[in-house]
Amino acid sequence: MVEKSLSISQATREHIVEIAHTAGDILRRMVNAHPDVWEKSPGDLLTDADLAANRYIISELTRAYPSIPVWSEEGTPPEDTNQMLWLVDPLDGTTNFAHRFPSFAVSIGLWAPEGPILGVVHDPMREHTFSALRGHGATLNGTPLNVSQVTHLSRALMACDWARGEARERLLGLLNHIGREAHAVRAIGAAALGISYVAAGWLDGYFNANLHPWDYGAGIVILQEAGGVASTWSGARIALTQTSIICTTPALHPQVLAFSGMFSRGNNVHAQK
Ligand code: IPD
Ligand code: CA
Ligand code: CA
Repeated sequence: MVEKSLSISQATREHIVEIAHTAGDILRRMVNAHPDVWEKSPGDLLTDADLAANRYIISELTRAYPSIPVWSEEGTPPEDTNQMLWLVDPLDGTTNFAHRFPSFAVSIGLWAPEGPILGVVHDPMREHTFSALRGHGATLNGTPLNVSQVTHLSRALMACDWARGEARERLLGLLNHIGREAHAVRAIGAAALGISYVAAGWLDGYFNANLHPWDYGAGIVILQEAGGVASTWSGARIALTQTSIICTTPALHPQVLAFSGMFSRGNNVHAQK
């Protein structure tokens, strides 16, 4: 499928789902085959599966959508990020993958200067495919998704993921508050899945102290189309920068923000709905 005049449609969504499924097959085949593991920096892992899935996704996207630059974790950032972009994480959850812990995903998002348009997050081990197109709802394997009805943090199942360095200290600060209030706080190990689980209503909120655009490039639109709210820890709209995020039901957002604001690096603006 090659789109000459660009129109993003349900057909585009289906095409991205197909690409994510094939990339997921690559990951599933490699997870038990003792893939090579390197450290990009201390504690930041890379496997040959990240690279194999990345090669496949980039070749498909650039062949089918030559006018849209691809920004992948395993590629070089486009010179101009203020335009429509594919945001690709070929393997979100590399640490889980390297330990053969079966929670990881392929994440492919389409993001415009105004915000996210399309997102697909595919977990090849559980065969969960979350997807959304702006204005057309979010689905899991084709079934519509809605965030939970939980309105109080004291009744919430939350999740977070670990960060390194300065961000870990801020995460521990927020965890100290959320962990005392909520039913429990899980750690997923793949941000794209954590955000999608809030969209599915399986979690009531997810927070992370240090994400990159490819980690949330697909998840945010899935969350928003399921009725959820995403912002930075200071309440700002999520832009394409390295950032802290909270993703919750609408009712929980101000309750989490009241704590996250204390540990945020930025200033208060408006939440993204
Ligand atoms: C990581 C995962 C993890 C999050 C990290 C990310 P990767 O992505 O999403 O849950 O806490 O910040 O870097 O490296 O496995 O693609
Ligand atoms: Ca990631
Ligand atoms: Ca990755």
